Amino acid sequence: KTPNIVVVGSLNMDLVVSSRRMPRVGETIEGEAIHYIPGGKGANQAVGCGKLGANVAMIGAVGDDAFGSQLIDGLGQAGVKTDAVARLPGVPTGTATILHTPEDNCIVIVPGANAHVSPDAIERSRAIIEAADLLLVQLENPLPAVERALAIARAAGVAAILNPAPAKALPDELIALADWVTPNETEFAALVGESDAGAVQDDASLAAAIERWEARYGNRLVVTLGSRGAATALDGRLVVAPAPRVTPVDTTGAGDCLNAAFAFGIASGQPAEDALAFAVRAASLSVTRFGAQAGMPTRAEVEAAFPEAPRGTDA
Ligand code: RIB
Ligand code: NA
Repeated sequence: KTPNIVVVGSLNMDLVVSSRRMPRVGETIEGEAIHYIPGGKGANQAVGCGKLGANVAMIGAVGDDAFGSQLIDGLGQAGVKTDAVARLPGVPTGTATILHTPEDNCIVIVPGANAHVSPDAIERSRAIIEAADLLLVQLENPLPAVERALAIARAAGVAAILNPAPAKALPDELIALADWVTPNETEFAALVGESDAGAVQDDASLAAAIERWEARYGNRLVVTLGSRGAATALDGRLVVAPAPRVTPVDTTGAGDCLNAAFAFGIASGQPAEDALAFAVRAASLSVTRFGAQAGMPTRAEVEAAFPEAPRGTDA
């Protein structure tokens, strides 16, 4: 059956400046192109889920400016329901100014309307969360709104994935409301603090850190490892879903793609290991394409590009 996924999250207009290399601080360089393309971690993940075939509803906010209209239209074209995306008067739509090279990016976000998403606004969309198979949230909205969304899902027995991006420390109560938490290595370090992050040296110590986490919060952890793939722990061992090797074009939104595909798999009732293996392949394919949302692949595209999942490694 087609999974119903609700995404509570950000919508940004991405101002993407492409250049061959990053400027140094204080330096002026010449770029190749500028593109205005829809982004925001929430909207990217919503589009990612939609392209894979889920029914998707988005909860969030834009301003009543031209960027806001463009973002809502774009989501609609991707089949994402936008009735619960508020248009806030007198507030700018969120923007992300992105310096893009094929291998890397630097991003400055001005949250605008995303910063005005309140627990009350989430409460008004309670019925959408309660009716979903799965809730997917990130950290580009205020934490009280994120926490309210997770609390509604928990109370209704709806599975929830917290993608704790961008990196910040979080209250224990918020973390414990999610069923899955999916940090990258930087975000994981921000969540567990220096002492525990410093203890992660290799696969065995990462497995141990994941087990400590799972005992503490009563949920499951996926740590994404960039071009190496993603890891989870099973019976005390690290299970790595390795990434196929690709030539990067644009890494922006790769994490969003991984989260969308993982959410799709979990919401479809797949075993976590299978969902993660597919998600890593989807994210790898997205890296070969330009644009966060434009780079989101369909299921058929992932299977055509990487017919076989690379074999998992146990540590
Ligand atoms: O994860 C990538 C996204 O982060 C970009 O689309 C940008 O909008 C920032 O929010
Ligand atoms: Na991409």
